[in-house]
Amino acid sequence: FSQEVYVSEVSVYMTMEIISGPNTEARHCSRTECPVKHKYLPLLQGKSIAMIFEKRSTRTRISTETGFSLLGGHPCFLTPQDIHLGINESTKDTARVLSGLTDLVLARVYNHSLLEELEKEASIPIINGLSELYHPIQILADLLTLNEHYGSLKGLTVAWIGDGNNILHSLMMSLPKLGVNLRIATPKGYEPDATITWEAQHLFKQFGTDMQMFSEPLEAAQGSNVLVTDTWVSMGQEEDKKKRIKDFQGYQITMQTASVAASDWTFLHCLPRKSEEVNDEVFYSPRSLVFTEAENRKWTIMGLMVCILTDYRPQIPQLKL
Ligand code: CP
Repeated sequence: FSQEVYVSEVSVYMTMEIISGPNTEARHCSRTECPVKHKYLPLLQGKSIAMIFEKRSTRTRISTETGFSLLGGHPCFLTPQDIHLGINESTKDTARVLSGLTDLVLARVYNHSLLEELEKEASIPIINGLSELYHPIQILADLLTLNEHYGSLKGLTVAWIGDGNNILHSLMMSLPKLGVNLRIATPKGYEPDATITWEAQHLFKQFGTDMQMFSEPLEAAQGSNVLVTDTWVSMGQEEDKKKRIKDFQGYQITMQTASVAASDWTFLHCLPRKSEEVNDEVFYSPRSLVFTEAENRKWTIMGLMVCILTDYRPQIPQLKL
């Protein structure tokens, strides 16, 4: 978990320079004004990444594939129809073969244990592209988005209103280390994993930040700067869709939810989004950062891959986090 946070800080920091390039003049430009925004250092030239996807993806696939290419490397996108893994080749053998053929693996898996086995058997780094337990690279984009919007992260309060899922777990592991408080509302029976909650409670205490759990969305939203939710039906849970939608009644984020939040409230959602989770008024409002958040998937995964695969370090002063 400390590795996760190290990576958060470094990639948010590095991402800024990768966006703006080594041109001093451009470093402090906003992304849209940046005159060198389409120039990238060929930091990954000659390198390749195996992208194993057991599940669908829009953002994770496109951000990783295009980001790796922009930096001069070669991405290989592999679905279960393309790779022998899980059909007629063991995880152990796949991990060893990929270690000889590529420099990095990003895997989106149903079971976190597959990532752990890949990590154990491979001699190259493995990035979690989403498992049922965590989605750390999504949180990198969320942190960059909030850092850009608020100027710093320390002291912010995030309200999670929804399922106790992988995104929440990754927030619970990273926010305390960055000085961010967390208020969680989940319906009964949809609380976050008990072991991860126990671990998070220790982290929040260790870093002097606050985590509170509620069963009412308005209680979590009260005074919070950032309102966050996610799908109520994750990939693989489609059979439970009817029950889940019934169990999550009252959890839709609306302007009423926002009315008890801090005056500078914003909204995040990792996408894809359904209107039962957040209504159009909030989702398409100027307070919603969701499309910047989606774009930041690219800048943060680029930062992360450079950080993992090279000894390049940015020349700009460290950002205040
Ligand atoms: N948020 C996210 O991971 O999106 P994709 O499923 O489209 O990759």
